[in-house]
Amino acid sequence: MNGKLEFDRHRRLRRTDAIRNMVRETFIQPTDFIYPIFVTEEGKNIRTEIASMPNVFQYSIDRLDEELKEVTELGIPSVIFFGIPKEKDAVGSGAYDDQGIVQQAIRLTKEKYPELVVIADTCMCEYTDHGHCGIIHDGDVDNDESLVYLAKTAVSQARAGADIIAPSNMMDGFVAAIRQALDESGFSQIPIMSYAVKYASAFFGPFRDAAESAPKFGNRKTYQMDPANRREAIREAESDVQEGADFIIVKPALPYLDVLRDVRNHVNLPLVAYNVSGEYAMVKAAAQNGWINEKAIVLESLTAMKRAGADLIITYHAKDAIRWLREE
Ligand code: PBG
Ligand code: ZN
Repeated sequence: MNGKLEFDRHRRLRRTDAIRNMVRETFIQPTDFIYPIFVTEEGKNIRTEIASMPNVFQYSIDRLDEELKEVTELGIPSVIFFGIPKEKDAVGSGAYDDQGIVQQAIRLTKEKYPELVVIADTCMCEYTDHGHCGIIHDGDVDNDESLVYLAKTAVSQARAGADIIAPSNMMDGFVAAIRQALDESGFSQIPIMSYAVKYASAFFGPFRDAAESAPKFGNRKTYQMDPANRREAIREAESDVQEGADFIIVKPALPYLDVLRDVRNHVNLPLVAYNVSGEYAMVKAAAQNGWINEKAIVLESLTAMKRAGADLIITYHAKDAIRWLREE
C-alpha cells in the first residue's frame, strides 16, 4: 500500500470474549422479566397448551402452583395474570367479581409466594361476550362508561392482593380513573403500570386464542393506536404520566423499537416492553422447523429491547431465556 491509511481500529475491542464482555453496553438478567400466566375458571386439573404458543399453557387454579414454583425457582421476580372466566356477559362482570378467576389466582399466589410481585392485567375483553375491551354503545366502545367498570376491576384486583395494576384497555383517562378509585379505596400505595402505548396490532393474534378474547365484531382500531404513528406514542405516554402512571408499557416490542426509544427519551418512568404473543409464535414456529437458532435469536431480541430503552420486558420467553443465560 502506498501512503498511510487513516482509520479507526474498532476490532481491537472485539478481540476476545473477555474484552468484549468489558465493553458490553447492555445486559439481560432474570430481574428484567415479567412472566405472563393464563388462568382458566372452567374445570379442574387443566394444563392446556395454547396451539399457537408452544410451551405456554392455560392453568386451572388447582394446577397454578406448578407454574408459580417454576417461575420463582428460576428467579423471575414478577408475573402478570390473564383470566379466562367461565361465563362472559355484556359488561364483563367476571372482571370485577371479587371471586373472579384472576382474583382467585392473585390470592393464591400472594399466600404461597408473598415475595413474587403480582401484576393484574386490567381489561375487559376476556370477560365480555362481544370481546371488546369496554362497554359497547351504538356499535363502539363507550369511553367514559368503560372507565367505571375498569376502575371497579382495578379495585377488586387490589383488594385480592395485586401488587401492581396494569390497565390495558386503551380508554382515554384510564390511569386517572384507576388512580382515583384506588386512592379512594385505601390503595394509594399500589402502582399503575399503564399500557400507555399499545398499537392495534396483528401480533396479538395468538394471545386472543390463549385468552379467548378476540372481538366478535369489528376491531380495536378506535381505541388502540395506528401502527403507522410514532409521534402519537409520545402524546399517549405523556398523558398517562400526567394522570399518575408509575410505569409505561410499549406494546408490541420488536417491531416498535423506534417507539420504545422515543418514549425512553421523553419519559423518565420505568419503561416496559411487551414482547407479545405473535412475536413469540413466530420465533417458536421457525425454531420448530429448524430454521433458526432459537436460543441466539431470543437472547439477541431481548437484548435489543433493553438496548432500545426497556427497563423491564414482559415475555413468554422468560423461563427459557433464564435457562440459556445460565448456560452462557
Ligand atoms: C388485553 C390484552 C391483550 C394483550 C395483553 N392484554 C390483547 C388485546 O389487546 O387484544 C396482548 C398480549 C399478547 O399478544 O401477548 N387487552
Ligand atoms: Zn382488552
